[in-house]
Amino acid sequence: MSNHIPCYQPIRDDEMALSKAEKSIKALSAERNDRWYPLFHIASNGGWINDPNGLCFYKGRWHVYYQLHPFSATWGPMHWGHVSSADMITWRREPIAMAPTLEQEKDGVFSGSAAIDDDGTLTFFYTGHRWANGHDGSDGEWQVQMLAEATDDNAIHLKKLGMIIDCPREAVDSHFRDPKVWKQGDTWYLIHGVSSANKRGQIWLYTSNDLVHWNFDRVLFEHDDPQVFMLECPDFYPLQDNAGHTWWVLCFSAMGSKAKGFMNRNVNNAGYLVGSWEPGSAFHPLREFKLWDWGHNFYAPQSFRAPDGRQIMYGWMSPFIPPIPMQDDGWCGQLTLPREITVDEQGDVRSNPVNEITQLRIDDITCGSLSLNANEHRVLIEDAQAVEIEMDIDIAHSSAERVGLKIHSTDDGAYTYVAYDAQIQRVVIDRQATAYGDRGYRAAPVPVETEHLNSLKLRIFVDRGSVEVFINEGTEAMSSYSFPSAGRRSAILMSESGEALISSVHIHHLKSIGLDTDQPA
Ligand code: FRU
Repeated sequence: MSNHIPCYQPIRDDEMALSKAEKSIKALSAERNDRWYPLFHIASNGGWINDPNGLCFYKGRWHVYYQLHPFSATWGPMHWGHVSSADMITWRREPIAMAPTLEQEKDGVFSGSAAIDDDGTLTFFYTGHRWANGHDGSDGEWQVQMLAEATDDNAIHLKKLGMIIDCPREAVDSHFRDPKVWKQGDTWYLIHGVSSANKRGQIWLYTSNDLVHWNFDRVLFEHDDPQVFMLECPDFYPLQDNAGHTWWVLCFSAMGSKAKGFMNRNVNNAGYLVGSWEPGSAFHPLREFKLWDWGHNFYAPQSFRAPDGRQIMYGWMSPFIPPIPMQDDGWCGQLTLPREITVDEQGDVRSNPVNEITQLRIDDITCGSLSLNANEHRVLIEDAQAVEIEMDIDIAHSSAERVGLKIHSTDDGAYTYVAYDAQIQRVVIDRQATAYGDRGYRAAPVPVETEHLNSLKLRIFVDRGSVEVFINEGTEAMSSYSFPSAGRRSAILMSESGEALISSVHIHHLKSIGLDTDQPA
């Protein structure tokens, strides 16, 4: 498990593989239907995307890479797509960064992360993926960890250096992937997800002095639920609270966890544990497991430490359950807004859109305080295809069973409901009346014993095919796809079976981040 020098075995020409992928994306994007294509979320211009990868700030630009299948809008042999930005507001589409061209990654360049090495070189760690039987997943997977580095200041050209961690296949039930790397003191650390030989979800920890030679340190964490067989995309970082206390946050995307009540409703579920850790020791959880996001479509988040000290996380809005209508439009998948992760003195973690997002606002339409009669509908805004709605609901002075917003509301009666449900004391995204795609509802808790008891603060981001909700300043978040019908998309206030008092509403039209139109090559 240790002291492997990079093993480098090309099987395809990089340039040819990348240009074939670019051609395919171009063809898909020329035919793309934009009815649900995001205006202010990162997506590929065509094809399928999943996890955010290689997040970093390097030489004056923010970089987001992502898992990309360029040949259709379904999952397939993975490449790395790439966008970059000088300000996290306007984004530039970059050439595809990696295609599977080495023996160890024959069937895909899987997820991974970025680190800037001691000489200032931007370095990437990712998983090389092969099907164990050489052609499909029926006999499992054969995965190893790989190294690459950027050769230009814009991090467009990635030079692959080969395999750095081989898979001890006798100790692993085929899943062995998603390296995340960081430095502490003089030592580099790497974690990745594992399904152990007896099918337990684990996170393995390694150390290195040079980013090339890695020594297995320990199993950092094993999930206590025996049904959880794999922890994808692990992430691990310290956060300081205002009193200067350090909390370690261990994140993972669990495969195999079963739904229980409102928890773990999605096929796979991403969350975190807050605890303590010292190099050379085990991780000790101090708090209960929490989901990052309670929506229908959140998975495989990755975070990075920005030069200004912020911990910034992107998630993938995983479609999970068919039908997946955007696949008919030549593209599939988008990332969430970038979220800043913070911790308070109790060890409670919050996630809020990074401050830069407020610069997407074009206007500020203020509605003041509004009271609604029982069962009243009130149109708030008629052109709500890309908006942020800030809304404070006075719960103490509302008797409604549900109070909230019908977004993506179209003339045919379709809508998606974002509401506070007083009976279950949760914020709900209900897709029962949504025009296309999977339905069902999800519900995020609203802690009652807090300073927010009387007022519920919501920030609701409506894009062309999705809704993202931040509750009480990032205490909880929700991300769901919502695919509206044709025509005008309104947002309608609703008070169900009781009155509602909304103490303030601000509506902001949001501008595009620049990825929805073709950019010059
Ligand atoms: C998570 C994941 C990762 C893997 C990648 C493959 O969504 O399954 O574990 O590296 O996607 O696309």
